[in-house]
Amino acid sequence: MAHYPWKHAEELKQTAQSMVANYKGILAADESNRTATKRLEEVGIESTEESRRKYRQLLFTAPDIDKYISGVILFEETIRQKDDGGTPFPELLKGRGIIPGIKVDTGAKPLAGSPDEKVTEGLDGLRERLAEYYEMGARFSKWRAVITVGDGMPTRQCMEANAHALARYSALCQENGLVPIVEPEVLINGSHDIDTCEAVTEENLRMVFNELYRHNVMPEGTVLKTSMVISGLDAPSRAGVEEVAERTVQTLERVVPPALGGVVFLSGGQGDVEATQHLDAMNKKYKNRVPWRLTFSYARALQNPALGSWGSDMANTEQAQRAFAFRAKLNSLASEGEYSE
Ligand code: 13P
Repeated sequence: MAHYPWKHAEELKQTAQSMVANYKGILAADESNRTATKRLEEVGIESTEESRRKYRQLLFTAPDIDKYISGVILFEETIRQKDDGGTPFPELLKGRGIIPGIKVDTGAKPLAGSPDEKVTEGLDGLRERLAEYYEMGARFSKWRAVITVGDGMPTRQCMEANAHALARYSALCQENGLVPIVEPEVLINGSHDIDTCEAVTEENLRMVFNELYRHNVMPEGTVLKTSMVISGLDAPSRAGVEEVAERTVQTLERVVPPALGGVVFLSGGQGDVEATQHLDAMNKKYKNRVPWRLTFSYARALQNPALGSWGSDMANTEQAQRAFAFRAKLNSLASEGEYSE
């Protein structure tokens, strides 16, 4: 690895391996305040700094989740919050053997010149922010690019602008000792078929890995977070579980370097059970063929049942924790191809 300039090379490699350890995956709990508010209001809970803190505390203190969860992606507000006893969340997680991570992009904004598409912002001042997050205990971070499929979309300029930003973000992360989660999400929204999703995903990932290579990003210290190759939500007929598994794995094999630290998936609007089934099908059939761990980094597919059972008065904490731990356990099994319904 001598030609990579990163003084933290060995640490980055170790962190990436821990993030995708056997039977484990990542909890995405990095919803922006806007998204968190939407999710809380959907179940009748007012979104305040305190209700968001209580909700994240519920997740991070759920019994047994340390068996299934390797790391948690936090939001800027959350990484600075504490539990009821005054322990900062990053410390609480570390105490359970869970690695704290942090979302560092500042959101997807309309792309000038193609305003129906988005480009993710957040590079200004990022070096300094990363150094601070490292001090606070974060050892990985996340940046999400959004690729829309539709009439004439995605455009080349959208994919290139996002790939370039992902590469600059990743290089800054590795310079500062944090493993970048590189997330170029191809949105599930639309009526496109699975062939279209496959073509877009392959081309987009190819651009992303070309840019990462140009920017000296070390694959062993990088984790890809990708959408699956899947039919659009409104497609007239949607591909089944086996086909999604096969096409997703084949696409990854075509473009992802074998040296990469690992591959994790977002749930991206799939149903909770569907997201588990897809992950399981990939691992049941292809676990021994692919060079990387394939595991989860879900937000909605892990949290939905918990949010639904917490109750509008935030009273059913234990029930919500059980619901969360249950989905975490099933996805842990799916990450080894050992899930059965
Ligand atoms: P979902 O699993 O809800 O898609 O969220 C994952 C994520 O982190 C999106 O950036």
